[in-house]
Amino acid sequence: MSAFKGKHFITTQDWSKDEIDRALELSYDLKERKKKGEITNWLENQTVFMMFFEQSTRTRNSMGCGITQLGGNSHDLTPDKMQLSHGETAKDTAIVLSRMGHAIACRNCFYGLGNKYLNELAANSTIPVMSLQDDYYHPMQVMADLMVMQEKFGKNLKGLKVTISWAYATSHAKPLSVPQSQLLLFARYGMDITVAAPKEFPLMPEIVKTANKNAKENGGAIKFVDDMDEGFKGAQVVIPKNWGGFRHFDKWEDSDQQKREMKSNLEKYKSWICDERRMGLADKDVKYMHALPADRGNEVTDAVIDNEKWSIIYDEAENRLHTAKAIMALTMGGVES
Ligand code: CP
Repeated sequence: MSAFKGKHFITTQDWSKDEIDRALELSYDLKERKKKGEITNWLENQTVFMMFFEQSTRTRNSMGCGITQLGGNSHDLTPDKMQLSHGETAKDTAIVLSRMGHAIACRNCFYGLGNKYLNELAANSTIPVMSLQDDYYHPMQVMADLMVMQEKFGKNLKGLKVTISWAYATSHAKPLSVPQSQLLLFARYGMDITVAAPKEFPLMPEIVKTANKNAKENGGAIKFVDDMDEGFKGAQVVIPKNWGGFRHFDKWEDSDQQKREMKSNLEKYKSWICDERRMGLADKDVKYMHALPADRGNEVTDAVIDNEKWSIIYDEAENRLHTAKAIMALTMGGVES
């Protein structure tokens, strides 16, 4: 039996570097096979239950398209379609779905709740549970990020100067999961990482601690700055994106008062936009990445995001398909190992 069959995918931290490399190798293979029009129905008649507590374009469609291309099918579920809306527990949901299908995939980004919910599903499921993003991690996204970085800079990313920067946005307070997953995984590939963020928008200290350990074990480096310009200087890759200031509070209670305070903190940093001037501070061959959706005009100007020399966002988004297929094929037993 494959070593991957039945394995959960909630954070890349639970996968060894060899396992991540194998998933990437399979992602490249699947990308090539798709280009050639090959049939890859390795998961024929298998069902993935996709539970979305929040909206999604890339994750929903990469998973849905991906399982179809692997010969299976997906159920696109939201709490209002399920008995979750009447309080059914994660335990009962996981046990019942395990008796019927072949994988459970879930997005739950509610701060303080999402990762707990995913782990409760996993603890009670006899089929693989995949995170489609929670409040801590977005493992599917960061696999696609790593893949596009390898495509642009080569397989060995050791020493690559990458800046993960906070940026202003009005759309919504985005989860911490994308920058945190990037920090954790990029450190394992020995990258030279700068995190630029205002003091009111910290990442979770426990994640930072693990990322520092990852960097130490793999020859990487992590530095924190509170100035966006400083963060951009000399960077070969910039990833400016908004995230909420949840961890600024000792305990997030989701109260109106905390939300007001977070909003007033946000308004202090309207100037944190990725524009042409800032791109000029970076390396001459710098690449711009964003998990999308981007808040155009706030996080980034059109002149940057639409600049084909800089922006690799659509390659990054396309890789969501290939990496999602690889994770499903491995964990659902569609390939040997
Ligand atoms: N990057 C990402 O997860 O996009 P969606 O929210 O559209 O799925």
